[in-house]
Amino acid sequence: MTVERTLVLVKPDGVRRGLIGEVISRFERKGLKIVAMKMLRLSREKAMEFYSVHKDKPFFKDLVDFMTSGPIVAMILEGDSVISVVRQMIGSTDGRKAQPGTIRGDFALSVQENVVHASDSPESFERESKVIFSDEDYVNY
Ligand code: PPS
Repeated sequence: MTVERTLVLVKPDGVRRGLIGEVISRFERKGLKIVAMKMLRLSREKAMEFYSVHKDKPFFKDLVDFMTSGPIVAMILEGDSVISVVRQMIGSTDGRKAQPGTIRGDFALSVQENVVHASDSPESFERESKVIFSDEDYVNY
């Protein structure tokens, strides 16, 4: 068993559409443990830092505009192989191509407004989680 952690964001479209509970519920029913969670509005600086790997992509400004357009819900999930398990559960980036049964496959039709983000590797988790959470945000239980 490989207990890992991953970062999940319910993006501004997911919050606006009232999908926070739906997203959290799927992860809870799967048996994943929430070890940190908060609602916040990203500053432009934080959004640019969070998506810095995409800073040279043509969609970078639109992505930052979108991610700062409203509140998000951020959470850290813990579980066996949680990074790959959660990536499977959210589906492909483009909601039009994501498989039915995945979060994006069931709720998204866009590559940008695709309801959720999840870390794609342990290195991404280490970097992304530090943009949003500090050590005292984690709860031991
Ligand atoms: S890439 O281009 O292969 O690196 O894309 P990917 O790693 O799958 O995710 C890119 C993130 O940027 C958001 N986004 C877009 N991606 C591709 N094309 C366009 N036009 C675009 N606009 C926004 C996309 O939702 C991914 O966000 P996250 O939060 O990482 O899932």
